Order: sequence, then C-alpha cells, then structure tokens
Amino acid sequence: MSNRPIGVFDSGVGGLSVFSQLVKLLPDENYIYFGDTINLPYGSKTQDELVEITRKIFDFFKSKNVKAVVMACNTTSALTYEILKPYYDFKIYPIVQTVAKNIATQGYGRIGVFATQGTINSHAYKREFAKYSNAQVFEIACPEWVNIVENELQADEKSVENIKMHLDEMLINNPDKIILGCTHYPYLLGVLSKLTSSDKFINPAKSFAEFIYNDLEENNLLCNKMLHEHKFYVTSNPKQFANASKLFYKVQEITEIKL
Ligand code: DGL
Repeated sequence: MSNRPIGVFDSGVGGLSVFSQLVKLLPDENYIYFGDTINLPYGSKTQDELVEITRKIFDFFKSKNVKAVVMACNTTSALTYEILKPYYDFKIYPIVQTVAKNIATQGYGRIGVFATQGTINSHAYKREFAKYSNAQVFEIACPEWVNIVENELQADEKSVENIKMHLDEMLINNPDKIILGCTHYPYLLGVLSKLTSSDKFINPAKSFAEFIYNDLEENNLLCNKMLHEHKFYVTSNPKQFANASKLFYKVQEITEIKL
C-alpha cells in the first residue's frame, strides 16, 4: 500500500506550489500530477460542474491505484470535498480545510483571504475558521489572477494595477495576515511583496505539505523504497503548462489526456 503513488491535482500550474513542497519533504514518493487545463478556470464554475469534474479526476486517480489524493486546489476543496469524500477509499487531503485549521489555531484576530470567486462565494474559509477561532475573516475574490498566472502576465501593467486594486481593498480591513487562498496566487508574490511587506502573506503550500507528511507517517503510508517517479498529465496545452510552471517546478515530460 505505502509504495503506491500520491495523486495531486489542480486546474493548472497552481497546484505545483504545493507539489514542489511535497517533493522537498517527501522526495522518495511516486507522484502523479494532474492539471485540468481544459476546464480552467475552476473559480467561475458552479458547484455541480465542479463535483462532476472532481469525480472524474478522483476516478482517474483510482484507476492509477493511488494511496492518497492531494486536493491542491482551494476551489474544489471548498465545493466538492465533503460531497465526494464518502465515495473513495484512498486518503484525501483538502487544502482549505487543512490550512484553515492550522492558521486558525495560531491566534490571529484579523485574517484576510484572497481566493477565486467560487471559494469566496462558498465562504469555506470563514466557515472553517469559525470551527476553531473567533478571528474575523475578510474574503475577497480576485477572479483575474488565475489567468494572469497561467498566461505569465505578472509583469504586465494592467495586471499590476489589478493586483494593487484588490490588495488596497483588503488592506482597508487591516488584516494581521492574508492567506493566498488559491494555489495560483503564490506565483504573484513577487508583485504583491513590492506593494506591501511580504510578511503579510501566507502561502499555505509549505504547512499543507508538512501536514500531509505527518499524516502519511502516522498512518504508516510513507513509501519505503526510493521510487522518485513523477508523472504529469494535463487536459490541454502542455506547452503553456510547462512555460507557466517554471517558477515552482521544472516539469519534464507532460502527457496530454482527456477524461
Ligand atoms: N488554483 C485553484 C484554486 O486553488 C483554482 C483556480 C481556478 O482554476 O480558478 O482555487
């Protein structure tokens, strides 16, 4: 069981911010990364559409005999995890629920969340925080940011203006920390930290990967051979995926598939 692969998925390159942390902590594991680029962006899809999409991805991972699936996508964690979890017998790690619990127990009083429209409309972060703390949670959707990242438009004047606009709106709330609640957003840290102190932002990828490491260890699911196999699948545009991914991971071979 423990030598079976770990599946990681997102709508595109965003999940590589989590994947790269996992590979650092757990270099011996076998990984299958799935970037659902044909359905990107997830943030503007309905819950029903996302449940259907995630079901297909879980079935794909099931066919690959994975031991665990990492939902390196906030939008599907927020909108599909609770619905689909009962139907699968591998471990499932949802980013929103894991990260919110971890940050909520650190004692901050005012927390900002930047995320996709879908995640914000679900209020998943607010809901999860309320389980563990009395922190005030300020949620702001940044619907343009996923496309900025996927198309490598970070340096574009219009992108910087848009990033500043959302940041200014958030800073009015005077948050102690701002969670980058979409796995694409850490790719914008270069721009964000020119506009305000980089200490303000929480990129949850590292603590999420640490949680997964500890949980696999506790459940005796760490791989005990040095397998190091990394497979990448996308549902469209492998070239664009390879280009946009450079900041977090140098992807070698990418297979294009349809589900
Ligand atoms: N990166 C994903 C997330 O964490 C989804 C972005 C999108 O496709 O809209 O929410």
